[in-house]
Amino acid sequence: MSTCSTVILGTGSYAPERVLGNAELARMVETSDEWIRSRTGISERRLAATDENASDMGVIAAQRALAEAGLQPADIDLLIVATCTPDMPMPACACFIQHKLGLNTRTACFDLNAACSGFVYALDTACAMLTSGRYQKALVIGVEKLSSVIDWQDRTTCVLFGDGAGAAIVGKVDEVGRGLLGTRLGAFGEGTDLLYISHGGSRSPTTAESIAARDHCIRMKGKEVFKLAVRAMDEAARDILEQCHIRPDQISLVIPHQANLRIIEAISEYLELPMDRFVVNVDRYGNTSAASIPIALDEARRSGRIKTGDVTLLVAFGAGLTYGSALIRW
Ligand code: UT7
Repeated sequence: MSTCSTVILGTGSYAPERVLGNAELARMVETSDEWIRSRTGISERRLAATDENASDMGVIAAQRALAEAGLQPADIDLLIVATCTPDMPMPACACFIQHKLGLNTRTACFDLNAACSGFVYALDTACAMLTSGRYQKALVIGVEKLSSVIDWQDRTTCVLFGDGAGAAIVGKVDEVGRGLLGTRLGAFGEGTDLLYISHGGSRSPTTAESIAARDHCIRMKGKEVFKLAVRAMDEAARDILEQCHIRPDQISLVIPHQANLRIIEAISEYLELPMDRFVVNVDRYGNTSAASIPIALDEARRSGRIKTGDVTLLVAFGAGLTYGSALIRW
């Protein structure tokens, strides 16, 4: 039985400067501010500059997390970057970030692709690696430059996504019952055709034709994903609560993946928890995939919505179709 807990020591986030509002999108494709807000809850999203890479955004979020934790880059010996839009397919975004941040060359660095559930997967992985005793301090980043894989002519997807980064520093304390209490990860692999980028991988490398057809961009069967998202997030939330013997009313705050306000409202109804216990920032950032939960977590902490002793539920769903939940006691 472990005598230590893995705890979050600091968080940070970054959103690029450029704001793309619904009105501007309505001049690009046949849509309206009214449709986007009523169907998704999104008012605006942030876009990275052309020369601003996922690694650049990740570095800023990480620096803010390190500052809050009162730690130096040299203190980190494990870096996990959750992303599905790394700077390049190879090498890992984590290696770019390691170098730009000035992390030790003895830091284990790798990317993890679980799409929108990426941060929850990465947090669980980091905590397991810390608990093994072989690592002391982990930097976990969720970052996406989704604007680089959006088809700006497809109104069913281009209104939904945005860019950004969030980070957390994870360490250990000699105390049980604090920090990460448990996680529940899973995937419905039969749903790989519901949310995907078909070209640019080893099955269908990019060709002139695939670029012309914009097959390097995100495609989604939104309605099917919506239904599965609600079911999976509800189940993942219930499972972890049961596993940790915690009742829904003991949760002070839920930090759900920010894909659609209507999905968050459905989870609130299913768990019978009022919306004021949910962090919502999808209106300002849209869906930033792996960055969505760490950005929301950082904003919640910095605005004082999380206090010592509080229990927070993270719950996510994304392409794969992956899902994950985590319970944290602060
Ligand atoms: O982060 C990973 C997980 N991703 C998600 O969780 C996304 C899940 N899905 C969703 O959030 C929603 O399904 C969407 C927001 C993507 C779509 O909302 P919906 O209520 O399911 O709409 P729909 O796809 O059923 O489309 C309704 C109508 C269609 O027109 P018809 O066929 O009824 O004439 C669409 O063509 O709305 C039309 N439509 C639009 N109209 C204006 C689709 N996109 C737009 C648009 N502007 N941007």
